Amino acid sequence: MKSTARILLVEDTVPLARTYEAYLEHEPYDVTHVETGRNALGILNSDPPDVLLLDLLLPDLNGLDVLEHISTQNIHTAVIVVTANASLSTAVDAMRLGAMDYLVKPFNANRLKVTLKNVLERQNLSQIVATYRQDIDRREYHGFIGSSLAMQRVYRIIDSAAGSKATVFITGDSGTGKEVCAQAIHDQSPRANGPFIALNCGAIPKDLMESEIFGHVKGAFTGAVAERDGAAAQARGGTLFLDEICEMDLNLQTKLLRFIQTGSFQKVGGGKLEDADIRFVCATNKNPMEEVANNRFREDLFYRLHVIPVHMPPLSEREGDVLDIAAKLLDDYAREEGKSFEGFDDEVRAVFSAYSWPGNVRQLQNVIRNIVVLNEGGAVTSAMLPAPLDVLVGQVEPLPDNAPAASTAAVIVEGVAPFSSAFRAPQVAEKSILPLHEADIRPLEQIERDIIEHTIALCDDNVPKAAAYLCISASTIYRKRQGWEKSQSETV
Ligand SMILES: Nc1ncnc2c1ncn2[C@@H]1O[C@H](COP(=O)(O)OP(=O)(O)OP(=O)(O)O)[C@@H](O)[C@H]1O
Ligand SMILES: [Mg+2]
Repeated sequence: MKSTARILLVEDTVPLARTYEAYLEHEPYDVTHVETGRNALGILNSDPPDVLLLDLLLPDLNGLDVLEHISTQNIHTAVIVVTANASLSTAVDAMRLGAMDYLVKPFNANRLKVTLKNVLERQNLSQIVATYRQDIDRREYHGFIGSSLAMQRVYRIIDSAAGSKATVFITGDSGTGKEVCAQAIHDQSPRANGPFIALNCGAIPKDLMESEIFGHVKGAFTGAVAERDGAAAQARGGTLFLDEICEMDLNLQTKLLRFIQTGSFQKVGGGKLEDADIRFVCATNKNPMEEVANNRFREDLFYRLHVIPVHMPPLSEREGDVLDIAAKLLDDYAREEGKSFEGFDDEVRAVFSAYSWPGNVRQLQNVIRNIVVLNEGGAVTSAMLPAPLDVLVGQVEPLPDNAPAASTAAVIVEGVAPFSSAFRAPQVAEKSILPLHEADIRPLEQIERDIIEHTIALCDDNVPKAAAYLCISASTIYRKRQGWEKSQSETV
């Protein structure tokens, strides 16, 4: 509890006010007295006290109106109403309107002190709970929307890591919010007022990358007509975000390692060492250990950078977040397009929750943009859903208004899709596989691939539909496809 609590006493009978002030003379309270309701409102609006001792019978206003003002304006002041015995029912009304306690006139010093002490203790406790709830129950955090447990974990890591200069290594599939995460780390850090410089190591041609990071001197290469600062100099006192770090050329990785170790660098073509106080954050949608194992990423650099790992969970693992993000996007895009939409109907909400979102939040953005651009407005219905979500229409149980989206999404991740029996693949009788001839035996992986590819072809290239037949999630198919493509390109 704060050492000196501020009490505002509203009492139009001055001798009574003097008596109450005398009762509290030796208490650790700073008491201010006003005689009218309007004066009380002025103080409540400009500098709300901890406790309001409010006489309900005021010359200018009804005490209940003051209470209502406190509640509608969300003013964090605890109220004790003071009432005459005859108006006890009004005291009850006051409690309904949010007063914490009441005192019946006349009361003695002890009664006043005990009531004040209790109310302050309760208020202090509710503040602790509110702060705690704010910490564990955040629905939004910097650029993120989402209250799922998976995201609460991410918010907590960012909170803890932001104050330090330690390097953060963000992993996660495409579209999961790695860049949003990097920006959040910067915004939450003491460097928030410094620069945030993002460099996409995958988007800049290899031979320009060194100059992009470290800058160059005049004449360093053809076209270097003037000296130029790179990202390292621009990020001084702030954060340098190295996106798609696994795409960085091996030679440049060596230079980056030296820069991180020593805190100094040289411009391309320059001989002078320059210092830069920088916080590094990097991100990749690859598995960095795999890149190290395949000699595409320096192990020593990996360990230098991989100090605080943050993994961005796929959207399908974030319980009801998909619906919260979708609602915000619908509002934003409708405003941008000058249209008016009224949320999603139950079936659309069910489809959003059941779908596996392989492209994560970015794919959700595209779907909502598509709906807003191609339709006039009103409630979003299943008829407005673009491919591949339309295939789930009629296959999922509509989600009642306040039901969390968690269960269906979780089920689909586990590979048991919540589809109607009409969607299930027919059971294959054992004898249709047997007897097996030696020549038919192939690696299991190959058989799996054949079955998946065959099913996709039967479903006219509709991956979610194929996934539904195979009782696996569409994201599993996308992942497997990536793996096949990769092993194919490695054998070529
Ligand atoms: N939790 C979230 N709430 C709201 N918007 C989000 C959230 N996560 C990501 N976004 C938005 O989704 C889009 C993709 O996010 P971002 O660019 O950070 O993803 P990424 O993981 O870096 O993707 P990639 O690997 O493709 O670069 C951005 O427009 C971002 O603002
Ligand atoms: Mg990115």
